[in-house]
Amino acid sequence: MSKFFVTTPIYYINDQPHIGHAYSTIAADCLARFHRSQGDDVLFTTGIDENSQKTILAAKNSGLDTRAYTESMAKVWQQTWNALTIRYDRFIRTTEAAHHVAVQQFIAQVAQAGDIFKGVYEGLYCVGHEAFLRPEELVEGKCPDHNQAPQPLKEENYFFRLSRYQEPLLEYIRDNPDFIQPESRRNEVVSFIRQGLADVSISRVKQDWGIPWPGDDSQSVYVWFDALINYLTCAGYPSEASAQWWPADLHIVGKDIIKFHCIIWPAMLMSAKLPLPKMVYAHGFFTVEGKKISKSLGNAISPVELAGLYGVDALRYYLLREIPFGADGEFNTLRFERIYNADLANELGNLVQRTGAMIIKYMGGITGETPPHSHDPGPYYEAMAKLRFDLALENVWSRIKGLNQMIDEEKPWVMAKTDPEGVANLLKHIVADLLQVAELLAPFMPDTAAKIVTSFESGSFHPEVGLLFPKAQTNV
Ligand code: MSP
Repeated sequence: MSKFFVTTPIYYINDQPHIGHAYSTIAADCLARFHRSQGDDVLFTTGIDENSQKTILAAKNSGLDTRAYTESMAKVWQQTWNALTIRYDRFIRTTEAAHHVAVQQFIAQVAQAGDIFKGVYEGLYCVGHEAFLRPEELVEGKCPDHNQAPQPLKEENYFFRLSRYQEPLLEYIRDNPDFIQPESRRNEVVSFIRQGLADVSISRVKQDWGIPWPGDDSQSVYVWFDALINYLTCAGYPSEASAQWWPADLHIVGKDIIKFHCIIWPAMLMSAKLPLPKMVYAHGFFTVEGKKISKSLGNAISPVELAGLYGVDALRYYLLREIPFGADGEFNTLRFERIYNADLANELGNLVQRTGAMIIKYMGGITGETPPHSHDPGPYYEAMAKLRFDLALENVWSRIKGLNQMIDEEKPWVMAKTDPEGVANLLKHIVADLLQVAELLAPFMPDTAAKIVTSFESGSFHPEVGLLFPKAQTNV
């Protein structure tokens, strides 16, 4: 049995989850389910990044004390993932004691390598990014992503000797072409590293929040340094048993955080003498009406609300089918509705329903044993290996379309008059392929797949399972 350890970013809790966050998490869930279905031993982790200054500010705005606020948001995020049938194995919170132990141990290892020193940092800090910005990144003095002027900050901090890892990183990326995917992101990271890496500040003057710096009460650990270590905490680090899971097979991240995951994180691991994750895959961003999803624009769409309108599986399908993983795309409710009606209601839902109706009419509801299935899923497996969810679904849909076409061409309602055996064989064949379709769809649409299986269980059709995708009312 092979193991598969996949992670999502841990999300900031200053706001409610939106479809962008759901995208990373659904993709990771789909892969985790796929690997489980292949018999792999899977660890799928997600969680929340609690030690951010954004948490303090959001708590203040909500009138709760910071801890009570984090408790309430932990529930919101967990409920969201439950509502979207996300089956994670571990939900990490960075306020957990286990994580604090991991961070402190990790810092000790980096210090032992001689990679931590004290220095003065002067720069422009953007709380939205939880990062320093370079003056050339500002637009009219403001951070273009958060539309706020960064705070000038001058502090005595602990630094990480990132510069030392410039050449080892370039060498590693060159020798491990799969490490950063897709290729366009790898090129972006490589050209950034080639411009030269400066040492980075990894602590902040202590606030009443965050992980205390080991042995220095005046400082706390910089939130990104702490957050990245979550992946190790999830593997069980610093216990030796963590070697069972570490290194992770795959970090799924959005393209916005590749520098942290493809430069700082691997350098931190090199310094701590720990193996590097096998792959970091950066997916693209969803826009809404051409604009970035953001709290300040008020254009965030709730995945739970959408799932309430169209069903969870329809949302999972739309997000993974619409845009090649790795590319940017536009989230469009009208288009979602069209795809729902065309692919899900008309093609898949209708196929199951008409097959069932004919089994009742021509076979008295009983199919008996079905023949082996006939669809070639080769392209599906190739696509899954490359995280091309859209192509995997395209392969499944080619079969769904093919089966509908077969019914249209063979016309069982005509055939029934002269060749009842031929009709029975045809319907049995369709059921066999539908069960194969269900198996392939299960990682994407777990409820739908289960419904298809139940509909044709034990050699008969079960109409009580009901319609898979009732035609969508127009919601837009
Ligand atoms: N807390 C950090 C991550 C630390 S991981 C060690 C963070 N959190 S976040 O809440 O801002 O979430 C960022 C992630 O959410 C992105 O990397 C991406 O995976 C996902 N997305 C947020 N907005 C998105 C879109 N509009 N479109 C697609 N994904 C998006 O950064």
